[in-house]
Amino acid sequence: MNKNEAAKTILKTQYNQQPINENGEAFAPSNIALCKYWGKRNLELNLPITSSLSISLGDKGAHTSIEVIDSHQDKIYLNNIPVANTDKFAHRITKFLDPFRTTKKLAFAINTKSNIPIGSGVASSACGFAALTKALNNLFGWNLTDTELSILARLGSGSACRSLWHGFVKWEAGIQDDGMDSYATKLNYNWPDLRIGLLLISDATKPISSTNAMLRTVNTSSFYKLWPQQVAHDLVQIEHALQIKDFQKLGETAELNALAMHATMLTSNPPILYSTPKTIEYMHKVWQLRQQGLGVYFTQDAGPNLKLLFLEQDLKKIQNTWQDIIIITNEHKS
Ligand code: DP6
Repeated sequence: MNKNEAAKTILKTQYNQQPINENGEAFAPSNIALCKYWGKRNLELNLPITSSLSISLGDKGAHTSIEVIDSHQDKIYLNNIPVANTDKFAHRITKFLDPFRTTKKLAFAINTKSNIPIGSGVASSACGFAALTKALNNLFGWNLTDTELSILARLGSGSACRSLWHGFVKWEAGIQDDGMDSYATKLNYNWPDLRIGLLLISDATKPISSTNAMLRTVNTSSFYKLWPQQVAHDLVQIEHALQIKDFQKLGETAELNALAMHATMLTSNPPILYSTPKTIEYMHKVWQLRQQGLGVYFTQDAGPNLKLLFLEQDLKKIQNTWQDIIIITNEHKS
């Protein structure tokens, strides 16, 4: 099955129907995985080898608008600034939109506005593709369910399928070849005083994209065969920690899960190392603070930046240690 066929399966009789509105817009929060998605069983459909679990970043995310334009090609904007169609960012969006063009000539203008610092490693594709999927749903008037939207968002970027909700979200890997059982759902846990701190270390372009890094890891790391076991264990631990609000268990599991993911990358050939000396320095600082009794843990994605997990009660101490830390609450206004 390719992306086009997957879109057809979701849209059924609405496939190939014209947009009912002139434009569509939507917001989607960014998300950070506490148990990571790393490795695909199907590259075309972004079907993961394992399930994953994330926390959404409240009001931090992407607001995307889309309209039909009279042009021979799409016009892509990031924060109101035009992006060249040859740019990777624009190319990914254009390719994602292809299954939804009712005629080959149908062109769109898309503006993605992100309120997260660009290059922070959380401004990434997840909230962008989730917001774009919701905006498309509004433009075409499809009235899709959250599950259907999650499946469509996944076709843009795997982690985007987790960005349709606030709070804690789990993406079930599924086993079907067509991916119709691989989507995310919102989990029924609340943790209002949980905080995420963003430590920006570098905004340099990634040495290798997460898509390619995953592929290389799966194909070359002898440690990768341990990864599904690690995830199975960590998912149980994290869900249990959420259930009983055990912050230490949540933090420890999330941190170890991120380190295990990076261990599979380090043992790839050629090796993949996203950490810089600053990343390592901050890791040591987190461990030192923990030894002094502070409840703080980190997680790291496909980049050098660290995301800290801690509780509101320790906010001042965290801010005293890292003056320029960006604090994100998982609560949202609406
Ligand atoms: C390390 O969702 O960006 O952030 O499906 O190829 O677009 P593609 O990958 P992407 O990978 C995210 C990897 C991660 C872990 C996670 O978010 O679960």
